Amino acid sequence: MERIVGRLSYIPRVRAPLAVLAENIHPVADRALEEAGLEIERVPGALSGKELRAALDRATVLGIRSKTELATGDFHLGKGPEAVGCFCIGTNQVDLVGASLSGVAVFNSPFSNTRSVAELTLAEVVALTRRLFEKSAQLHAGVWDKSAKDAHEVRGRTLGLVGDGHIGSQVSVLAEAMGMRVIFHDIARRMPLGNAQSRPNLAAVLREADVVTIHVPATAMTAGLIGVAELRLMRPGAMLVNNARGSVIDYAALAAALRSGHIGGAALDVFPEEPAGASKAFKCGLEGLANVILSPHIGGSTEEAQEAIAVEVSEKLAGYLQRGSTATSVNLPEVDLPTPREGQVRIMHVHRNVPGVLGKMHTLLAGGGVNINAEYLQSNERISYVILDVDAFKGEAIPAGLAAMPETIRLRIRR
Ligand SMILES: NC(=O)c1ccc[n+]([C@@H]2O[C@H](COP(=O)([O-])OP(=O)(O)OC[C@H]3O[C@@H](n4cnc5c(N)ncnc54)[C@H](O)[C@@H]3O)[C@@H](O)[C@H]2O)c1
Repeated sequence: MERIVGRLSYIPRVRAPLAVLAENIHPVADRALEEAGLEIERVPGALSGKELRAALDRATVLGIRSKTELATGDFHLGKGPEAVGCFCIGTNQVDLVGASLSGVAVFNSPFSNTRSVAELTLAEVVALTRRLFEKSAQLHAGVWDKSAKDAHEVRGRTLGLVGDGHIGSQVSVLAEAMGMRVIFHDIARRMPLGNAQSRPNLAAVLREADVVTIHVPATAMTAGLIGVAELRLMRPGAMLVNNARGSVIDYAALAAALRSGHIGGAALDVFPEEPAGASKAFKCGLEGLANVILSPHIGGSTEEAQEAIAVEVSEKLAGYLQRGSTATSVNLPEVDLPTPREGQVRIMHVHRNVPGVLGKMHTLLAGGGVNINAEYLQSNERISYVILDVDAFKGEAIPAGLAAMPETIRLRIRR
């Protein structure tokens, strides 16, 4: 049995556990959630207004993608879902501070689509080097141009990666498998895979590569990373691929470099300003340029990635409900303990990070003659999360005492 209580009202509530899944989350998510004892309710499209509030009231777990927005006012101390699963990469749509202060764990899937991006990148490296899109566009217009001029194999050519993280490192492996020579620059020390070689700075990669491909996050440091000066450093005729973030490249400077012929082609999946939906017009200043592939931020958009996201997020939600695991949660301190021993009671307690809370919990349990067998605490600047495995106890005095502590944000007890 599980009791879930908030500090403000201690009348133990036993909820019928329900996962409300919005926005067409991949059906494979049901498996882990059902195994964790949840019933599944699916809601088509994004949630907002009254529909959102009703879903928050009845859900033990709320699953959303990027279009459902959860603001500060949507989270309440001791009420609403235990956890929110963002079945997508980012969590910008959720007020993470509000969720933390209400003890709601938020999970996402930051890297499940990285293989999809890596594959698209490699396809574009080949397509640019063969001028494939240009030939295709010509043929669509009825022009049969069979010339080999400026079309090359990628074998033996140099690929320069800027950022060698989850995506960059996979591109590195795939490119080498096609016979490319791989160099990379990363601000963090990365172990080169295969025969890839690191370079001490961005300029070294730009000077040497036939194709440069960007795989860095959008940060203050990467904003405008590739501008007029950096494009000048690139080899005449070199190509540029950006499947990372639009802020990294100065697209006006790139358009000028493409027009002048200094840059031989580009593939761009991300833009400084991206339309909210298909009904909105799109402009980036690179339309109509030869050997430029434009795609509408689809690098990670594959059915395989959606499935992988659904598996990862649903398993994280199940782990939180069953064991209290907050491993990889984006807002609660990370705590993970194995499944408790037979006969043990697990106390999962989110509280304000102020001195003396653990002492109070220990005193309460000792006063009830309850032995603690495992304990794991982690804190951030605002809140702490502790899991305690304790000997079985009877009655409601201990849960009531824990719930009544003024520091308590959320308490779950699994017997
Ligand atoms: N097009 C899409 O649909 C799509 C999908 C997924 C991810 N992305 C984007 O791809 C990018 C890379 O994603 P990832 O999963 O590989 O991220 P990651 O965090 O695993 O790797 C990023 C790497 O960049 C390095 N880095 C950061 N700043 C740098 C700098 N100034 N110079 C050199 N290296 C730097 C980091 O040290 C890290 O190794 C991100 O911008 C992400 O948002 C796009």
